[in-house]
Amino acid sequence: MCPFSQGRKIGKTEDLAAGQVNPQLSLFLFIQIACEKPFCSGRKNRSGVGRLSVLLLTVGCSLNAPIFFTGNVAFIYLTVCMVPVMYGGGYYMRTAIFAHRGSKANRPENTLSAFEEAMRVGSDGIELDVHLTNDQEVVVMHDEKVNRTTNGKGQVKNFTLNELKELDAGSWFSPQYSGERVPTLKEVLELLSDFPGVLNIEFKTDRNTYPTIEERVARLVSRYRSNLPVVYSSFNHESLIRLKEIDSNADLALLLWERLAEPWRYTQQVGASAQHLWEPSALSETGKQLQKHGVKVRAWTVNKPKNMQKTFEMGIDAMITDYPEVALDLRKSFESMKKSL
Ligand code: G3P
Ligand code: MG
Repeated sequence: MCPFSQGRKIGKTEDLAAGQVNPQLSLFLFIQIACEKPFCSGRKNRSGVGRLSVLLLTVGCSLNAPIFFTGNVAFIYLTVCMVPVMYGGGYYMRTAIFAHRGSKANRPENTLSAFEEAMRVGSDGIELDVHLTNDQEVVVMHDEKVNRTTNGKGQVKNFTLNELKELDAGSWFSPQYSGERVPTLKEVLELLSDFPGVLNIEFKTDRNTYPTIEERVARLVSRYRSNLPVVYSSFNHESLIRLKEIDSNADLALLLWERLAEPWRYTQQVGASAQHLWEPSALSETGKQLQKHGVKVRAWTVNKPKNMQKTFEMGIDAMITDYPEVALDLRKSFESMKKSL
């Protein structure tokens, strides 16, 4: 016998009032719809299938639909509607995991070793930072100065590529990596030629503007990564606007510490699809509001397991982390836990 209809037509208002149309399910659905909440916490973005299921279930259980429901037909109908809910396919917003400067926690940052490790563990994305040398080569490094991450001293912009290549970019991290060199963007693009995930290139143009860096990066990307996903970010939003003028299809992300008022308006004005927000800003109401307005949110730098868990629960689009392997493991546990609910 159909557990919903108890072998008779269901869906009449009086049935509902008499509690014969599974009132718990109806109430549950009503709350879901009223609160615009998905079925499980953290699953913010319902897909079309998910939305349709909610709609069908609501129509079927909460409203008057006697024409549709008789006996076992009702049971089959409701079961089919529940499939995407049970398997989570219609509802789950998976948080992507981007490896910050490669796998920064266990490799010297922004080196080929760090990017190899990020790929090995299965990162969904890889973030890196770019500068220009004195002879206008695009190189991958975080700081404006080489002091912290090499055995040299001085500003990247004052080194030629050959001079930069003489520096050791691994020993500062561990003697095991003493052979590491500062990579060019071209070398990294070659290494990542089979990496299907997102490459996030951050223009470090907030202190030195490096005229022409945007064109040089765009040229390299069109040559080595034309069919693979690339997101450009920067704290210098003018750099991103310049890039968009060069490549109107470029996918832009605004790097921000702050929580702006109506941040989606500014994002649209710049022509960006995402904000890369400082972790506390991303995990606040601002992050939620941005997503509600169709702006992607990627949080940086999420390193504490507790905060990784929060990004999964909030359904933040991506986290940028020094610990991609840890984050991937935690996501696996989070997803199994959600599936078992
Ligand atoms: O892109 C996220 C993050 O890398 C921004 O800060 O200083 O690590 O480049 P930073
Ligand atoms: Mg960066």
